[in-house]
Amino acid sequence: ELGDYDHFMQKEIFEQPTSLKNGMRGRFSDDASTAVFGGLNLSPQELRQVDRILFLACGTAWHSCLVAEYLIERFARIPVEVEYASEFRYRNSPLDKNTLVIAISQSGETIDTLGALREAKRKGYRTLAINNSVGSTIARESDGGIYQHAGPEIGVASTKAFTSQIMICAMLALYLGRLRDLSYGDGIEIVKALQKVPEQVEEILKQDAKIAEIAKKYAKYEDCLFLGRQLMFPIALEGALKLKEISYIHAEGYPAAEMKHGPIALICEECPSVFLAASGEIFQKSLANVQEVKARKGKVIFVASEECDIPEGLADDTIIVPECHEIVQPILMCIPIQLFSYYVALERGCDVDKPRNLAKSVTVE
Ligand code: M6R
Repeated sequence: ELGDYDHFMQKEIFEQPTSLKNGMRGRFSDDASTAVFGGLNLSPQELRQVDRILFLACGTAWHSCLVAEYLIERFARIPVEVEYASEFRYRNSPLDKNTLVIAISQSGETIDTLGALREAKRKGYRTLAINNSVGSTIARESDGGIYQHAGPEIGVASTKAFTSQIMICAMLALYLGRLRDLSYGDGIEIVKALQKVPEQVEEILKQDAKIAEIAKKYAKYEDCLFLGRQLMFPIALEGALKLKEISYIHAEGYPAAEMKHGPIALICEECPSVFLAASGEIFQKSLANVQEVKARKGKVIFVASEECDIPEGLADDTIIVPECHEIVQPILMCIPIQLFSYYVALERGCDVDKPRNLAKSVTVE
């Protein structure tokens, strides 16, 4: 089943051009100005009544929810909240009557996400699921949903399921945006950007050997920070989760500007930072945050989009990602950190597909 690959995680990372294509297939309107979904069981009129969306999930899927929050608020202007499913199910949160609840789960069997979904249903909220397993419990119990079609994911560390969830969330942001203020022209531009993603991911994957070399240099450290701002913040969290779960390195993700409120105390020669730099207005501001790290002798690995002009002497290593529309930045920026974590874990002799203490599907509370 592994074919030419050494591990399922590696295979699944390299399957992403295909899994992303499969998630988009048949899901754009004939005029390519919006997304279309078959299974929402909600009419455009009903969706226009939604004035708040609550996303629920665990782990990596929770990071997808955070990306969804940025994208839906940005492109559809609908307020979004994100909550850990395990917290929501016992918190008895007051929700507005026009709230739509969306659960994201690769397996569709995570007990906390299922428990949260059931609680939302008991309270009479309309529920949707974004899910990768046809016929799973979460898919069956939600009122409607969107299948990811990413194919089975075997590696415990989620890779292709994550990028596929972000892709679906970007398409949902497009669809909801087009029901509101997003123009025809903006819609066309976003569809084009989404369709280009598989080949751009292919380009990034070609840097595999280079990323492996970089990873080897950093495998000896016991701490690592992942920093990003705005849309890159959830990717920083995901980078930290990926690294810690498969390499057992202590890693944390932060919005870069938060460094000065505490975490910068950790910075020293032995604590490198992976800095996620997407082009856009926040990039220049982020540089000040990196300078603070450098000034404390912290090593910095930049994962940066092409147009980011990184000042001399700031980066110890750099991985460049193709320039793209803002809406797909999180997908592209995620690929190098998956490979980085994979190679760091290999270098440390870890079992990447079956990390200690973890199961693929968490069906206990
Ligand atoms: O199947 P789910 O998406 O509901 O799983 C949620 C988490 O258990 C899962 O994402 C977990 O955090 C992974 N090990 C992350 O790589």
